[in-house]
Amino acid sequence: MTAVKAFVFDVYGTLFDVHSIKEKCNLYFPGKGDAISSTWREKQIEYSFLKELMNDYDTFYNVTRDSLKYAVEEQNEIITKQQQDDLLRSYLTLSLFPEVENVITQVQDMTLAVFSNGSHDMLDPLINNSRIKDKFDHIISVDEVKHYKPTTSAYQHCLDILQVDKKEVLFMSSNGWDISGAKHFGFQTAWINRNRLPVEGLNLLPNVIYKDLNGILEWQD
Ligand code: LAC
Repeated sequence: MTAVKAFVFDVYGTLFDVHSIKEKCNLYFPGKGDAISSTWREKQIEYSFLKELMNDYDTFYNVTRDSLKYAVEEQNEIITKQQQDDLLRSYLTLSLFPEVENVITQVQDMTLAVFSNGSHDMLDPLINNSRIKDKFDHIISVDEVKHYKPTTSAYQHCLDILQVDKKEVLFMSSNGWDISGAKHFGFQTAWINRNRLPVEGLNLLPNVIYKDLNGILEWQD
């Protein structure tokens, strides 16, 4: 088995909980926070796929803004500019999942990178506002190449920055579509299956499956 030299982490849903702003959604739209948060995430991902397929790239910040508007209108509500700005600002201070800080602190001897569809106007403040600030060697955004995961171009950009072989990368994500894309590209993959979901039916099995990030500690030298 090729020795892993770099740990690469997806961000939203893997390190940070995108549903940690459900309470604020409920504050503005009482009783509809769960539904809005769920549709918001689904549409955010769907729009990134659709814009990639249409060759109509826009930043993940704008996609996140536009998917929020859809999620609110789906509940027959209208979002004000103040509410939109406040909810998008909350995306810059999402909660870390409970085990993340401890695991990231324990693997500092590896080359560490985050690799996200998020644009730097979202990623940099999110990480710099968090307890894992300054823990990574690279903060890599697909916005640098204007192609979303799971395109090959996106993972190739990540690899070009890391300057290692594909098999020397362990890529971690909670998103099955992202893990499938990384496996197809040639990374070693650890699916962080936080929601106990079935493996995607894409014939691209993860190398390993963990219920949270603690499992990756066994990959250290
Ligand atoms: C990310 C989202 C898509 O790339 O999970 O961080």
